[in-house]
Amino acid sequence: MSVATSMYACRVDDVPLGEGRAITLDGRRIAIFRSAAGWFALDAACPHRGGPLADGIVCDNAVICPLHDRRYDLASGEALNADDGVTPHRVELDGERVLVTLAARAERVAA
Ligand code: FES
Repeated sequence: MSVATSMYACRVDDVPLGEGRAITLDGRRIAIFRSAAGWFALDAACPHRGGPLADGIVCDNAVICPLHDRRYDLASGEALNADDGVTPHRVELDGERVLVTLAARAERVAA
């Protein structure tokens, strides 16, 4: 059994308030968001058609995919106006450093 550990993602100043940034951590594309409610991280690709969630509009506690306007809860990754959610990851601050603990990869079941 592996134990998830936090990894350095970026500096606090790298993500303006109300925006997101895409980074690669351990080979995975992750979108980090800084909202008025705090820091959040989700898988970077929208589960609909792979839209770049880091480029979406951050409003309240959600991000709106820039391609077709699906909304995802920043904390849970739950889709707010669709079926498929996106995987959330844990974010912590260590001074000016933003640390992310990646969630386990989601299992995809072929239809
Ligand atoms: S790719 Fe995100 S809503 Fe379509």
